[in-house]
This record gives sequence, structure tokens and C-alpha cells, in this order.
Amino acid sequence: MPSPAVITMQSLCRYYEMGDQLVKALDDVSLAFEPNGYAAIMGPSGSGKSTLMNIIGCLDTPTSGTYILNGENVAQMDDDELARVRNREIGFVFQTFNLLPRLNCLQNVELPLIYAGVEPEERRERAESALGRVGLQDRIAHRPSELSGGQIQRVAIARALINTPSIILADEPTGNLDSTTSHDIMEIFSELSRAGNTIILITHEEEIALYTKRIIRLRDGRVESDERR
Ligand SMILES: Nc1ncnc2c1ncn2[C@@H]1O[C@H](COP(=O)(O)OP(=O)(O)OP(=O)(O)O)[C@@H](O)[C@H]1O
Ligand SMILES: [Mg+2]
Repeated sequence: MPSPAVITMQSLCRYYEMGDQLVKALDDVSLAFEPNGYAAIMGPSGSGKSTLMNIIGCLDTPTSGTYILNGENVAQMDDDELARVRNREIGFVFQTFNLLPRLNCLQNVELPLIYAGVEPEERRERAESALGRVGLQDRIAHRPSELSGGQIQRVAIARALINTPSIILADEPTGNLDSTTSHDIMEIFSELSRAGNTIILITHEEEIALYTKRIIRLRDGRVESDERR
């Protein structure tokens, strides 16, 4: 029996009006993801990958179409409701979400829990455990400037895991990393996938996409191919 989808998108469109020009960043996209789906989104620059990721991550809403996340219609939510769903369900590993340079690893990872009002002792325990999961238990007192690129990316993953989200979204998580480090990062995602998380990542690299179980290719805002492996 197939597992129920956590994510169902029907005829999603995201249009931008630029003067008298209409940019169809997403144009009639329908996709579903199972609870432990593990997918790569690929496609040329400007094909709509980040736009799709922002909608999946509840940072943006579609111009038209439906987006059902764990039974809730996200397409119709206001900003407060989006923020609530985002905090509860989603962990982001975005390259642009930089770590705070003055905070050490532990403090960076703890940050989402401070916003969530979790007590200091529990925060520390959970942050240490998240750093342990990405193999950085011996670097908790280091600041980002005292870490390698791969270690920084692993801190970002630990931070994304701290609220135990069901969905982990990553935009080019291995960009700028050497192949050994990329492999280590992808092993972490594979393990999270086996643990039941839904993982969706954007990548330009075919070798990286091959770690996943599904490759979705976008072109001009549309799904060009959707290959399960
Ligand atoms: N805020 C915006 N206003 C107007 N047009 C936008 C906006 N954001 C994105 N677009 C347009 O929508 C299209 C899709 O953009 P998107 O950022 O999703 O592409 P992408 O596939 O992530 O590309 P890249 O690989 O370069 O990151 C592009 O043509 C872009 O110019
Ligand atoms: Mg992008």
C-alpha cells in the first residue's frame, strides 16, 4: 500500500508582474511527495527551482493552485499561519542562511530553540545532540570562522534539525564543497531520509542528485521530467 503523501501540489502557478511583462516562475506544477520522499530538484538557472522551494517551505504562496501540507491547505494561509507551519514542519539548509559569526556552533544551533522559548538546559542538550548527529560533537565551542566549509554546512544542517522537522529543504547544500565533503553531507541526508524525513534538495550536480531516489527537472517553470530511481 503506498504511504500517504505529506505534500500535494496541484496546478501550482507563481507569476510575477513586472511592468507589462508576466514572468511565469512556476507554470502549472503538480507534484506529490511521500513522508520519506528523497528528491533532487534540477534545472537551468531561472527555471523556477528556488521559487518552488520557497513555496514548499511556506516562505511564499502560489498565485494559483493548491498546496496541501500534512492535510492543511497552505496556499490560503496568512503570514502568521505560514510562520507557524514553517516552524513546526520545516528545516531549511539554505546557503544564504549564514551562521552568526560571533556565536559558536552550539549557540548557532540553539538559536531556533531560543525563539521557540525552550529552557536553557534543554536547549543545550538538544543542540549537542544535533551536532553529534552531524559528527561535530568535538567542535561545539568553535565559531564559524574556525571551521571548514563542510563543517559550516554541517552546523547549518544541525540547526535545521533542531526543531525535529518532518521536511528538510536544502538549496545547493554541497555548493562550493570538495567531493569528499559533499559525500559526507549527502550521507547525512541519506540517513535522515532513512529515519523518515522528507528531504528535498536543489542541486546543479548530477552526482549529487544520484544520492536521492527521485530527480525532478524543471524548465521554464514547468516539470520537464520526474524520474524515480
Ligand atoms: N521576486 C521576483 N520578481 C520577479 N521575477 C522573479 C522574482 N523571483 C524570481 N523571479 C523570476 O522567476 C524565474 C524563476 O526564478 P528562480 O529563482 O526560481 O530560478 P532558479 O531555478 O532558482 O534559478 P538559479 O539556478 O539561478 O537559482 C526567473 O526567471 C526569475 O527571474
Ligand atoms: Mg535558485
